Order: sequence, then structure tokens, then C-alpha cells
Amino acid sequence: MPFSYAKTNDLRIGIISAMHNEVDLLLQETDIDHTDSIGGMDFNVGFLCGKPVVIARAGVGKILSAAGAAAMLNNYNISEVIFTGIAGGVGDDTKVLDVVVTTRLVQHDFGEIRNEGFEWTKGYDGTDGYYSCDEKLVNLAYDAAVDIVGKEHVFQGIVASGDQFVASESYVKKLREEFNAIACEMEGASIALICNRYGLPFVVLRTMSDKADGLAHETFRNMANIAADNSSRIVMKMLESIDCQ
Ligand code: ADE
Repeated sequence: MPFSYAKTNDLRIGIISAMHNEVDLLLQETDIDHTDSIGGMDFNVGFLCGKPVVIARAGVGKILSAAGAAAMLNNYNISEVIFTGIAGGVGDDTKVLDVVVTTRLVQHDFGEIRNEGFEWTKGYDGTDGYYSCDEKLVNLAYDAAVDIVGKEHVFQGIVASGDQFVASESYVKKLREEFNAIACEMEGASIALICNRYGLPFVVLRTMSDKADGLAHETFRNMANIAADNSSRIVMKMLESIDCQ
């Protein structure tokens, strides 16, 4: 359906992902009232677990996720944003199918190319280059994740975002040592930047589909759908405890 009305007044929880498999289960479970097409993205408006939601698959990478978040926040009355999906585990502990509830995000590929190589730039926007998730949503996501997969499989920490699929042991080492990251993916930091600009609480929830190492493509192929569904189940558990005004 073409998008034909101004920002609706109903307050809704925004749920965004990058890929189809990261929202398939959520959409199956959603009582969809209608779908708006905006900027090449589908915004599914309805109720999930009894809560008013807008669910969108924005696409892979920081540009499309930022565009998707901005389109969502411009066109709907959003109370908070939950980003759901998969990531590469780069921490010693974060194994395939473990869950990372993101506390802070950083763009690991934002910087300068010099004769000496790439140098990360921080502070161009007056920050230290790290963007914090909302504490209340982090706690809700953590509790929901523990409920679904058990405490030993849930981690909280920094996630590094960039426009590259990481499949390299040496880059994983850099992400750990330079950014203190425990997972890497391709969208979270841009969602964080947009939500910060709009002053909206957000959290990024990721199940590990691979270890971002030399075997990452193969592991991803085998595990991505399972990992994506796992994050979706955690989102649904979270929704049970979110208060809607
Ligand atoms: N998402 C899932 N696995 C990833 C990886 N290895 N690199 C970047 N994004 C990912």
C-alpha cells in the first residue's frame, strides 16, 4: 500500500532488522494491520505479543539502516527502537548462538586513510565515538535473553559496526584490542546515531551467527537463520515486559 498519511498518533515500538531472516519470525507472529512502503522499505504496522509495533527490514549496512530508522522515526510515533539480528562474535567468550545485548556501539570503519594505513577517527561529532544504548532496554533485553537461552549464553558489551562482513582473525584481534568489542555487525552504530539525534531510547540485540574468522562465511551460511530466529524470540519475550503508554 503506498504511504498516504501524515505521522500517526498511535505510540508504537519500532523494530528494525537488516535482513529478511531477522524479521521473518516476528512478522509471522504479528497481527499486521497494514504495510506502508516508504523509500523502498516496508513498514509493517500492527500488534506483536499484544503490543503496538512497526516492524521494518531496512537492509544491510549503515546507510540503509540509518535511512530505515530515519524513515520510521519521521513517519510513526515511536516510543523506543529495538534492533534485532545477528552478528559475528569477536570476544573470547562470544560463541556461535550466544547472545550479545549491546551496551555501546562504535563505527570501527570511520576514519582516515593515510600513507601508514587506516586510522580510526573519534570525536568528530563531539563524542568519544561510542554511543550508549538505553539502560532500561538493555536490562529488559538481558532478562529476556537469559530467559530464552540461559545466563551462560548472554553477554553485555561493546559492538563494533562497519560496512564490511568481517572474516579475518587479524581484524577480529584489532576489534577486540582497539575497540574492546565483543561482537561485530554492519548496522548498530548507525541506528544509535539516528536514535540519539531524535532523542529516542534504543537497544541492539544480536545472536552470534559466526566468529568473524576465516570460517565466517561457512558458519554464517549454516547458522544465520537459527541465530536470527533466536534474537526474534528474545524480542518477543522483551515485548511482554515493555510498558506501553
Ligand atoms: N553479521 C553476522 N556476522 C557478521 C560478520 N562476521 N561481520 C559483519 N557482520 C556480521
